[in-house]
Amino acid sequence: MSLSSTKSISVQKVEKSRIGQVDFDNLTFGATFSDHMFECDYKDGEWQNPTIKPYGNISISPAAKVFHYGQAVFEGMKAYKDDNGKIWLFRPEQNFLRINKSSKRMAIPEFPREIFFEALEQLVKLDKEWVRPGMGNSLYIRPFAMASQVGVSASPSTEYKFMILMSPAQAYYTGDVRVEIAEHYSRSANGGVGAAKAAGNYGAQFYPTNLAREKGFQQVIWTDASDHKYLEEAGTMNVFFRVNDTLLTAPISDRILDGVTRKSIIALAKNDNIKVEERPVLVSEIVEAAKNGSLKEIFGAGTAAVISPVSAFSYKDTVYEIDKQEDSYAAQFKKELLDIQYNRSEDPFNWRY
Ligand code: COI
Repeated sequence: MSLSSTKSISVQKVEKSRIGQVDFDNLTFGATFSDHMFECDYKDGEWQNPTIKPYGNISISPAAKVFHYGQAVFEGMKAYKDDNGKIWLFRPEQNFLRINKSSKRMAIPEFPREIFFEALEQLVKLDKEWVRPGMGNSLYIRPFAMASQVGVSASPSTEYKFMILMSPAQAYYTGDVRVEIAEHYSRSANGGVGAAKAAGNYGAQFYPTNLAREKGFQQVIWTDASDHKYLEEAGTMNVFFRVNDTLLTAPISDRILDGVTRKSIIALAKNDNIKVEERPVLVSEIVEAAKNGSLKEIFGAGTAAVISPVSAFSYKDTVYEIDKQEDSYAAQFKKELLDIQYNRSEDPFNWRY
């Protein structure tokens, strides 16, 4: 696909790459950025001046609406290098559709498909050396949009910035996490913004997560805002429960993010003849399953960690330990996903790009 001349991306390359200064064996997730970034402004009713330029600070007014009203959305995706040096993205169409869905909910104008994919491809090609080979290594890609109009009146911005940053990442080992089931705090509500990858959704989790950490739990399993009866997401991820051999996860709604890893796991499970139920999951049924031994696994699913197994959960001050499974679904899905992402297996669903 080619871009019309008014929309074609101007490219300013770095004079000297910073790659030599990076210790790729000791990366902190999301702390190092590749040589180039993408920037595009929305003004006078259209997205304009798409530019790839050296990664660096941007200048923005302290009165920009994003700082006052949090009008911002983001995405997370990864590029992987296979054993032949070829680079793959995983289901980028899903991220494209979702950032525009998130934007719509946050009254941000949708971003054009053509520029999104052209920017992604050009950026990844320019910074291809930043995608390191080897299982677990990837380039984490962070597209985001924010309100840049100057002014603190509480109304949607008329100006925006859409940017894409890229950050080399190693395998994201969370280790097995201990989680606390939320009894007071919630991450989303009916009619709210839970289904959007809105920046504030994540910022609002920090305080309750800190409280859980003080009690020795790394993450919170969020429950519904009305009665705290249903299990919804874990930390920044979707969450799955294995009861006997059936996989349970909350259905997509106003409150639940339509996770790319979530939907990929559901497809893999069905392909593996594992029974999957997308339905409201009661806290009480999981507590009961933990008591009677039918709860085999809980795991979070998201782009950053892929799959994050839960080793124990706490509910109303009682801790329930979850024994490791020999035939772990979490391990099975993680292997299947990584094999597809790194082009080490067939791609029966056409997910590689
Ligand atoms: C993901 O894993 O999908 C995330 O959104 C994680 C990000 C908040 C760091």
